[in-house]
Amino acid sequence: MKKVLVTGGLGYIGAHTTVALMERGFEPIIVDNLSNTRMEVLDGIAAITGKKPQFFNYNLAKEADVQQLFSEMGPVDGIIHFAAYKAVGESVAEPLKYYQNNLCSLIYLLQQLQGATPPAFIFSSSCTVYGQADALPVGELAPVKAAESPYGNTKQVGEEIIQDTCKTSAIQAIALRYFNPIGAHPSALIGELPLGVPQNLVPFITQTAIGKRAQLSVFGSDYPTRDGTAIRDYIHVVDLAEAHIVALERLLNKKNTTNFEVFNLGTGNGNTVLEVVQTFEAVSGQPLNYQLAPRRPGDVIAAYADTTRAAEVLGWRAARSLSEALASAWKWEQHLHEKSNA
Ligand code: WQD
Repeated sequence: MKKVLVTGGLGYIGAHTTVALMERGFEPIIVDNLSNTRMEVLDGIAAITGKKPQFFNYNLAKEADVQQLFSEMGPVDGIIHFAAYKAVGESVAEPLKYYQNNLCSLIYLLQQLQGATPPAFIFSSSCTVYGQADALPVGELAPVKAAESPYGNTKQVGEEIIQDTCKTSAIQAIALRYFNPIGAHPSALIGELPLGVPQNLVPFITQTAIGKRAQLSVFGSDYPTRDGTAIRDYIHVVDLAEAHIVALERLLNKKNTTNFEVFNLGTGNGNTVLEVVQTFEAVSGQPLNYQLAPRRPGDVIAAYADTTRAAEVLGWRAARSLSEALASAWKWEQHLHEKSNA
């Protein structure tokens, strides 16, 4: 059974990818410093798959921790690197925290990949590297623009660090540029677990619907879009997880054509904030309390993926709808509510 290190494997996308890896016959090894998740996610993974993956509680931003991890876990065939801070607004307020954590952890990881056949390396990147694209849908060859935040810059610089390292080593890597991951595993045993007030739209919607938040603020209703609210490409997190397996197998089977490849992971469809709200109301069967509010600084007007390269080269396309993703998010929120009232 091929072993795969999943850094940040108890996080939102990490946990869903760990489940997908196990279902595909891989043996995931999770490392997470629990700075933005809870140990109970490991129980959720075990409840879904029937097996509890090996777990290491280390902080990859500490070089000694990374060295200790690699000496304890032994050789792995692949690494999927999710571990990073990802709150855009927080990164503006605390840039050094983001540069230190997100870039040092990446560098310490890459320094462990020595020799002629290092593990295949998958990097969690983001559509934020495009900023406000000049043309939509945005393709992988679109110019990377000045990052809107230190968080987005750590993804841009992260890709450059990997690309330069691949040039002078045997490392084979793929960067996956996510659009907006939403939803939860259909079992409702794992899902998005925002600690504190959610920054992202969908968890704020579900927490408002369950009564945990009083009202959703729609940030901006005067954008040049069909209904005045901003457009994003919302992709089901299970589709996203499955794409990581396809990318990993591409490297393991040596199908990659260059030692550093980039793929967009989106649906190719753009939806406005109000369309997401209306779709949620339809799938949940209940009205949502929201107000129109001023724009949020740093937001782009519209972003949605050109999925051609992912479909034609990677051989992957998103299969799940916005309704299915929102229904799974709602089922997960209801599960959390039941657990907290148990
Ligand atoms: C989506 C839309 C908001 C909250 C960010 C990161 C990106 C990735 C996904 C990590 C926007 C609007 C939101 C709310 C709202 N994260 N909104 N009311 O900003 O597109 O992307 O998360 O990889 O890198 O940049 O996602 O969910 O925060 O916002 O109206 O309470 O919903 O203005 O138009 P975003 P989001």
